[in-house]
Amino acid sequence: MVLVTGATGNQGGAVVDALLHTGAWTVRALTRDPAGPAARALTERGVAVVAGDLADPASLRAAMSGAHGVFSVQNSRTAGRTGEVRQGTNVVDAAIATGVRHLVYSSVGGAERVRGIPHFDTKWEIERHLAGTGLTWTVLRPTTFTSVFTMRGAGAGLSLMATALGPAGTLQMIAVTDIGVFARLAFERPGQFAGQALELAGDELGVAQIAETLRDAGRRIRYTRRLPKSVLRMIGPEARMLSWFGESGYAADIPALRRIHPGLLTLDRWLRA
Ligand SMILES: NC(=O)c1ccc[n+]([C@@H]2O[C@H](COP(=O)([O-])OP(=O)(O)OC[C@H]3O[C@@H](n4cnc5c(N)ncnc54)[C@H](OP(=O)(O)O)[C@@H]3O)[C@@H](O)[C@H]2O)c1
Repeated sequence: MVLVTGATGNQGGAVVDALLHTGAWTVRALTRDPAGPAARALTERGVAVVAGDLADPASLRAAMSGAHGVFSVQNSRTAGRTGEVRQGTNVVDAAIATGVRHLVYSSVGGAERVRGIPHFDTKWEIERHLAGTGLTWTVLRPTTFTSVFTMRGAGAGLSLMATALGPAGTLQMIAVTDIGVFARLAFERPGQFAGQALELAGDELGVAQIAETLRDAGRRIRYTRRLPKSVLRMIGPEARMLSWFGESGYAADIPALRRIHPGLLTLDRWLRA
């Protein structure tokens, strides 16, 4: 049995899907709102939904009771910096206290290489806490989600990326469904993935190629090729992420990942799926 945090959200939801797909795992889902529609949909699919809060260690220990594995993800936007670190370390500490055998933590691509991006620094702090314990762990480091390009306001995001990357720069990206698959593989093959950190991407494209791929799949996107640099400064400390995208950025080994998971999606294949 695996306890999945964030199960009503993007990554956790994908992990639930991947675990249920094989029929080999029993899934328990953590949510603050077991009566909500997303939780009820999970219950209908045979998932045991438990109430809990990542900020409440006792609720985590109760939710992890009897679990073989835990998938851990935090929402940096809603938790805030100290909140995210506390939530991430709470999951690690509860896993130790309850004898969990394998913890899969979703961090972010480049967390170990770049400093000064607030929601990367928090994840690196959680990774270091995890690595210092005796737990068996796997860290997944996802790059940009393909879904950011189909969200409302995607054009504004693409304009910022175009400004940061320039005409020659590229960006790596991953479908959240594939994050789910890698989490499942980690639980299935601890011999291969215990103690490993995997930066995850299924595609690498320039901004013009991203827009073209979206257009070819019937999704028009309007973006500006070059915004004034002052716009980047206006978005605050997270602008550091965009400048890092332009300097070095994500560095997943996509061919190696595709050997592990041959179905790894490109942006085009994700859009058409
Ligand atoms: N967007 C990207 O391109 C990208 C790339 C790499 C990494 N990331 C990282 O991905 C993370 C977000 O992942 P996501 O998109 O999968 O998250 P999400 O779907 O936005 O997260 C929402 C989930 O978190 C749960 N949650 C939030 N606060 C909670 C709390 N206090 N206690 C228990 N559960 C809580 C929610 O559960 P309930 O509401 O049901 O309780 C829900 O299931 C961020 O940390 C971000 O930095 C994002």
